[in-house]
Amino acid sequence: MASSALICETDAWKDLRAHVDDIKKTHLRELMSDAKRCQSMMIEFDGLLLDYSRQCATVDTFNKLNKLAEEAHLKEKINLMFNGERINSTENRSVLHVALRAPRGSVINSDGKNVVPDVWQVLDKIKEFSERVRSGAWVGATGKALTNVIAIGIGGSFLGPLFVHTALQTDPEAAQLASGRKLHFLANVDPIDVARNLTGLNPETTLVVVVSKTFTTAETMLNARTIREWISAALGPQAVAKHMVAVSTNLTLVEKFGIDPNNAFAFWDWVGGRYSVCSAVGVLPLSLQYGFAVVEKFLKGASSIDQHFHSVPFEKNLPVLLGLLSVWNVSFLGYPARAILPYSQALEKLAPHIQQVSMESNGKGVSIDGVPLPYETGEIDFGEPGTNGQHSFYQLIHQGRVIPCDFIGVVRSQQPVYLKGELVSNHDELMSNFFAQPDALAYGKTPEQLLKENVPSNLITHKTFSGNRPSLSLLLPSLNAYNIGQLLAIYEHRVAVEGFVWGINSFDQWGVELGKSLATQVRKQLHASRKKGERIEGFNFSTAALLTRYLEASKDILKEDCTVLPKM
Ligand code: F6P
Repeated sequence: MASSALICETDAWKDLRAHVDDIKKTHLRELMSDAKRCQSMMIEFDGLLLDYSRQCATVDTFNKLNKLAEEAHLKEKINLMFNGERINSTENRSVLHVALRAPRGSVINSDGKNVVPDVWQVLDKIKEFSERVRSGAWVGATGKALTNVIAIGIGGSFLGPLFVHTALQTDPEAAQLASGRKLHFLANVDPIDVARNLTGLNPETTLVVVVSKTFTTAETMLNARTIREWISAALGPQAVAKHMVAVSTNLTLVEKFGIDPNNAFAFWDWVGGRYSVCSAVGVLPLSLQYGFAVVEKFLKGASSIDQHFHSVPFEKNLPVLLGLLSVWNVSFLGYPARAILPYSQALEKLAPHIQQVSMESNGKGVSIDGVPLPYETGEIDFGEPGTNGQHSFYQLIHQGRVIPCDFIGVVRSQQPVYLKGELVSNHDELMSNFFAQPDALAYGKTPEQLLKENVPSNLITHKTFSGNRPSLSLLLPSLNAYNIGQLLAIYEHRVAVEGFVWGINSFDQWGVELGKSLATQVRKQLHASRKKGERIEGFNFSTAALLTRYLEASKDILKEDCTVLPKM
C-alpha cells in the first residue's frame, strides 16, 4: 500500500468486507462448540490470560486481519514508534511513552539521543523528593508534615493518575504504605470541585502538585491560582515555595507562576498527555502517596507489556490481537461502541481513563496524510465495574444494541472476604458473574428453551435473548501495582494498533481546540459585560439569548472586585 493510500482501498480490506456475510451467518453458539477454535483463541502472557473465543470471528478472520495488518505496515509502524521516529507528524513529535518505563540502562533514542538517562534522572529526583515529604524531612511553612496532596490537572494530567490511584487504594501493600496520607485530585474548573477538595483540608499540612504538560491549560491554571491564593491567604505568600511543586514540559512558565524550578519535575514533548501517567505526571503524586517502590512496580508491569508488544509475533501479541479485533468490530461488523467491564471495584476509573486514551486518540475524520476518511474510526467507550453495570445498562447490551464487551476479571481479590456458612466467598460471588455474563451474551436464550420452561406465550419474545453478542475476557492473576501497569499498557498499545491500521494519527488532538477558542471569546464577553456593562456582540441569536439570561440573572453576584474562596 502506498503511504498516502487509504487502507479501505486494499485487497485485504475488501476481502474482510466480503467475509462479513459468512460471519453474520454463523452464530456464536456454533463457533463456541468448536473446542479447537476456542483453544486457539486463548493466549497467556506473564500471568495474564486472554480469551477472545467469544468474538464473532473464525481462524480465517484472523488470517485476513493479519493480511490487513501487513497491508497497513503495522509491524513497521510499531518499530517506528519504538525507534523514536516523529510519527506524530502533525505536531512533529515522536511518541515515546514506552521510554518512561524502560529499565535503567536501556537505550531508546529520540533525535539520535538516548532519552532513558533523562527519564531516570527525573525518576530519581521524584524518589528523593517523595521520600523527604513522606518521612517528614520536607515540611510545610509552619513546620508541619505534609500528609495531604492535591494534584491539580485535567485530561491526561488527571485521568491516568486517578485510575492508578483508585486501583492501588485497596492493594494491601500500597494501602499500608499510604497509611496516614491522602491524595486528592482537582480537575474541573468548576468551583464546586475546589470546594470539595478543600473541605477538611488544612493548608499547613497540604502539598499541591500542579500537573500540566503545557502549563497553559485554562482550567488547571485557574485552579492553581485559586489554590495558591488559599495557601497565601492562610500562611502568607512565602509559604507557596514550601507547599507548591509542579510537573510540566514548560519549566519557564512554571517559574513564572512562582514555583521554584528546583521543585519542578520535567517531562518531554514526546510524551502525549493521555500517555503520560508513567511520567512525573503520575509518578510524582503516586509516589507521594504510596512511595516510589510501589510505583516502580507499576512501571515494570507496563514495561513488560511494552517488550511483549514490540517483540512477540502478532498471533500471540495481546495488544495487536485486541487492536485488530477492535478494527474488525468497528469497521466490518459495524459495532461502533465498546463496553469496558472490570469485575473489580478497584478498576472503577479504568473506563474514564481509556475513554480519553482511546477516543482522543482515534476519534479522527482524516487520515494521517489529511485525506478525509470514507470509514469511521475510533470506538465509543464506556463502562462500569461489574456487578454495578449489570443493574444499569446491561439490559441494552443483552437485548438491545450489540456492544462488544471487554470483561476484565481478577483471580485473587485485593481484599478477600468470606462469611462462614456462605456458599462461596464474596469474590467468588463477584466472579460468578464475570464468568456467566459472556456466555449469556454469546449463547442467548431461544424461544424453544423458553417454551420448555413453560414461559407464558405472551412473554416469549420479551424473554428471548438473541445471543451472538461478542465479548472478550481478560483474567489477571491479582491486582497489584505490576498488574495495573500491565493493564494500562495493553490498552495504550491496543489503541495505537487500531490507529496504525486505520491510517490515522492517534497522537494528536486537534478536535479539542475549537471549543477552547470559542470559550475564550465568551470569557472576554463575560468580562466586558460584567465589568464595563458592554453589550453582547458577535454571537448568534441563540448564544446571545443564553448569555443575556445568564448575565441578567446573576447581576447580584460578585459586585465588587474581591477574592472569594469556598465557604465550606
Ligand atoms: O483536552 C486536551 C488536552 O490537551 C489533553 O490532551 C491533555 O491531556 C489535557 O488537555 C491537559 O493538558 P495539559 O497537561 O497541558 O494541561
